[in-house]
Amino acid sequence: MFYETETNDHGLTHNPWKSLMVPRPVGWISTLALDGTPNLAPYSYFNGVGENPNYVMFSSGGVKDSMRNARDTGEFVCIMATWELREQMNITSANFEPGLDEMAFTGLTPVPSKLVKPPRIAQSPIAIECKTHQVIELPGRADGTGVSYSMVVGRVVGVYIDDSVIKNGDVDIGAIKPIARLGNMDYCVVREDTIFTLARPDAARLIVEKG
Ligand SMILES: Cc1cc2nc3c(=O)[nH]c(=O)nc-3n(C[C@H](O)[C@H](O)[C@H](O)COP(=O)(O)O)c2cc1C
Repeated sequence: MFYETETNDHGLTHNPWKSLMVPRPVGWISTLALDGTPNLAPYSYFNGVGENPNYVMFSSGGVKDSMRNARDTGEFVCIMATWELREQMNITSANFEPGLDEMAFTGLTPVPSKLVKPPRIAQSPIAIECKTHQVIELPGRADGTGVSYSMVVGRVVGVYIDDSVIKNGDVDIGAIKPIARLGNMDYCVVREDTIFTLARPDAARLIVEKG
């Protein structure tokens, strides 16, 4: 099959789009409103987009609190969503009023960040502290239907890694068990038994081996 995205005439039960870029890491975005109210919400249009210097991005469908706060205060923190925290992560995606503190509501414990004001969460072993670099408004449809997205690009200024997840000098990602978004309402989890390793190929050696 083939479908054009202008009409979305895929004929499937669900729009397949989100099933086609999987798994997507969940950026659990912690921000403060201008009045200091904490905010926490998950974003799976989220990824690292460069290193040395390190950049991340998350993309907001319409004006949501996380985007507004990151834009207005210039700071946000990306917290890793883990298997143990999956229920709390999901609850923080509910459409709460801007004044509601999702961390307090879900019983998560805020811990001060080192270089930015929004807190990290004590229960998650990874937090990425960011200064907002740019908010890029992605053009929506000309006829006004659909959703306009704002992509928030952050420059990473600090990374928290809990000492308990460092094993033999490396981050033990199998022990952290990050969760990631698939299509529809589906997720997957990274565990020890789902991780595999591929060494990067050497072009000259590949050509010799192929003859
Ligand atoms: C796993 C997951 C991923 C999500 N990813 C996005 C996303 O990338 N962009 C978006 O606009 N909303 C996304 N949402 C929905 C937001 O979390 C939801 O609209 C939330 O209420 C936004 O909160 P805020 O206004 O405090 O930022 C996602 C929800 C879940 C559960």
